[in-house]
Amino acid sequence: MINYKQLYERVGSVIGWDFSKITKRTKVVGKKWDYIKVVKKYINKETILLDIGTGGGELLLKIAPFVKKACGIDHSRSMIKTARKNLAKSKIPNVEFKLADAKRIPFSKEYFNVVICRHSDFYPKEVFRVLKPNGIFITQQVGEKDKENIKKIFGRGQHFGKRVGTLMNKYLQELKKTGFKILKKNTYNALEYYANMEDLIFLLKNTPIIPDFNIKKDQKFLEEIERRYKTKKGIKTNSFRFLIICKKPAPQLSSPSARRVR
Ligand SMILES: C[S@@+](CC[C@H](N)C(=O)[O-])C[C@H]1O[C@@H](n2cnc3c(N)ncnc32)[C@H](O)[C@@H]1O
Repeated sequence: MINYKQLYERVGSVIGWDFSKITKRTKVVGKKWDYIKVVKKYINKETILLDIGTGGGELLLKIAPFVKKACGIDHSRSMIKTARKNLAKSKIPNVEFKLADAKRIPFSKEYFNVVICRHSDFYPKEVFRVLKPNGIFITQQVGEKDKENIKKIFGRGQHFGKRVGTLMNKYLQELKKTGFKILKKNTYNALEYYANMEDLIFLLKNTPIIPDFNIKKDQKFLEEIERRYKTKKGIKTNSFRFLIICKKPAPQLSSPSARRVR
């Protein structure tokens, strides 16, 4: 089985989670939501925000100017090291990064107004614990159909062979069971064109899309992708994501009549 932690440890010291070098050349066809815009609907200058699985903090540093305080946790040492370097370069004053696993968030209960988590593991009970009543949890995750044509050629890949909706339903069930009220759920499936094979290889080397990707061993699959999916716009594939926004309800005050009965 792929060791994701090892992968993130290696990638963290090289690029953190900065794919801007290739994404700025990638063409997208179809509707995608803008994750930062989605988050901005739920934050303000009074918000204390946590980002679970923050990577090199690239995303959190873009959100931090719009909140009072922003904290990022990641279980990879190299990611946190890169995040702290990125923070020092940015000179943004209201951010802190901590090395921690999402299983045990190193903050007291009801500390955060908003918790976000993009493409990382999270544990609903732990998110519930650190959120204030009426606090919001936003998560975007990679869906089963992501990079479908590429995974088919490799015959392996992230969530390969799982039925569409399995993951989202699993998260929805777990969140509801924990006590969250689901406010919103959404999916997108957009076409993506990577500028060239080098960009696609960079993506495969540095992400969990294809477990144990090895440029030499997997050469035949890369050749097949180039032969079948190279177009004028670039190398064609797709991006499939789902989004869940939920709320930790405030405890219900019992009505005077209910109190009298007791
Ligand atoms: C795909 S990257 C996403 C980074 C960032 N959230 C973003 O969207 O730009 C996933 C990150 O989550 C971290 N991660 C995965 N599982 C985790 C866990 N159980 N606890 C803390 N961090 C975790 C990884 O180390 C990695 O840095």
